[in-house]
Amino acid sequence: MIYPLILTLHLFAALIFIGTVFFEVLFLESIRKQLPARVMLLVEQGIGRRARSLMPWVLLVLFGAGLGMVWLRYLPALASPLTSSFGTLLALKIAVAMSVLLHFLGAMFLFKSGRMSPRYLHFIHASLFCHMIVIVLLAKGMFYLTW
Ligand code: HEM
Repeated sequence: MIYPLILTLHLFAALIFIGTVFFEVLFLESIRKQLPARVMLLVEQGIGRRARSLMPWVLLVLFGAGLGMVWLRYLPALASPLTSSFGTLLALKIAVAMSVLLHFLGAMFLFKSGRMSPRYLHFIHASLFCHMIVIVLLAKGMFYLTW
């Protein structure tokens, strides 16, 4: 009974994280052109503050639940990832997730050190957007693709 609970937590955390990244790229980038720069700055500061307080918890649940599921069910598959399509795709998914974590830590560092620029932010958003597409394809592909 514990596994479905952890999976549900993982799914909720994933949809908050993926939803936020998609909102930033698909909505915010286009709203930028319609609003005066000063208003946009305030909007981005507000969203940034909220994201910096909420996202560490979302990532904690996401990664904690992910590790929990691996521990409960998928350790054998990960012990020799190249021997099954599932193990390979799960290992790839975890590698992409680690890169997501590095992006997040990098962004936190840039914000905290006052070095975050619109150019860096744009790059991080675009890169995370691509990571999210790959991670969802891997997350579902590992159950449906076999070779
Ligand atoms: C940015 C980070 C991550 C995102 C966005 C993400 C997203 C997802 C999504 C959307 C699913 C499909 C769930 C479903 O359809 O029921 C999934 C499944 C899964 N994820 Fe993650 N995940 C992330 C990180 C991780 C990490 C770090 C691990 C392990 C260390 C992990 C392990 C798993 C496992 C084992 C499943 C399969 C669960 C099952 O159906 O039995 N995930 N993930």
